[in-house]
Amino acid sequence: AALLHLLEDPAKESLEQSYQYIDDGILLIEDGHIVALGEYRDLSTQLDDSVVTDMSGKLIVPGFIDTHIHYPQTRIIGAYGDQLLDWLNNYTFPEECRFADRQYAEEVAEEFFDQLVMNGTTTALVFGTVHKHSVDVFFTEAEKRNLRMIGGKVLMDRNAPDALLDTPETGYEDSKALIDTWHNKGRLSYAVTPRFAPTSTDDQLALAGKLLREYPDVYLHTHLSENQNEIEWVQALFPDSKNYLDVYDRHGLVKPRAVFAHGVHVCDDQCGRLAETGAAIAFCPTSNLFLGSGLFPLEHIEKQGVKVGVGTDVGAGTSFSMIETMSEAYKIMQLQGKKLNPLKSLYQITLGGAKALYLDDKIGNFTAGKEADFVVLDLQATDLLSVRMKNCQSVEEKLFVLMTLGDERVVSQTYSMGSPIYSRDS
Ligand code: GUN
Ligand code: FE
Repeated sequence: AALLHLLEDPAKESLEQSYQYIDDGILLIEDGHIVALGEYRDLSTQLDDSVVTDMSGKLIVPGFIDTHIHYPQTRIIGAYGDQLLDWLNNYTFPEECRFADRQYAEEVAEEFFDQLVMNGTTTALVFGTVHKHSVDVFFTEAEKRNLRMIGGKVLMDRNAPDALLDTPETGYEDSKALIDTWHNKGRLSYAVTPRFAPTSTDDQLALAGKLLREYPDVYLHTHLSENQNEIEWVQALFPDSKNYLDVYDRHGLVKPRAVFAHGVHVCDDQCGRLAETGAAIAFCPTSNLFLGSGLFPLEHIEKQGVKVGVGTDVGAGTSFSMIETMSEAYKIMQLQGKKLNPLKSLYQITLGGAKALYLDDKIGNFTAGKEADFVVLDLQATDLLSVRMKNCQSVEEKLFVLMTLGDERVVSQTYSMGSPIYSRDS
């Protein structure tokens, strides 16, 4: 197969030095880890034919990394008419109430993971609901499929329906118990997950900070500066805070392994703080368009040294596909008079995401020693793609067309730790 190995951020390094493309390549895997990649003619001589899987005509890329998604919102994608705060009240909270039923949560978790692997996503940072068992269900399903996943229970002690509220103390205790059960179990990690500033009191955020001090390698996952009405509300609820990020910062939540979804409207002050602490923003293109939240200034934010991953943000996002998500990212950049190179797009949903999550020692590209999570792409998956590809010369051009026209149909197979976990034609 053809192999595309990403080495560096194409926006920082020269484009040519940011990747390695091998037209007739081979990936050597042992015990679920990458051993080497190279030219088929060089490496195949060392191997017995029986252990080689032929994928001629396909393109192999690293597994996709979704740095912000809500599994409980799988069944509300495409909810009509509202921007963020009304969308939460009218669609999201009623659906999340259904997760009080463990069996309902189990059904949706299974649907969610089916969608992820069908789209080539092998790692994600995932919201549960306020219910502790929503996270047990999530990790149980992730473990079954041997995926590297990060998740957490929502903390929410005000401004939501009573059925979805915890208290600072129960939120703390439940999170602690989940961390003790799941964090660093195999490929799983825990994220302390206050929903966003408006639905937590200072007391709750303080206890979230306490958890992070007690478990320094646990993640922090929340939302930040997504929508203008939301931002005004945060300012009214926390009149003493300098800005939105400061609400979290005061409680020690801005740190390495903290991921803030959206950040569409963050000022340079907040960027400076994100950059110096090593926290990341999850850019969520389809969600920002669908909820009318705004155009994320990717270049401006990255220039200030902020780590950026990409998220689908399902169910405000409209697709599980990281490929479709980058097609929308391209359009968001176009509306701001900027370009988004397709190699940069692929970098963002693989190695860039891994760096945002501090997982680039384990996943994100094909460096020897990393876990062998990868996706086998079919550049001729649809009639239109086949026709259009005839006109493509460079790998860059093919990748761009793939992202512009592609969806889950381009994912032939998804591999986790060197084993197939999804195949499109079976
Ligand atoms: N802000 C607070 N909760 C949510 C959510 O569920 N989705 C999005 N997009 N933004 C949020
Ligand atoms: Fe979200």
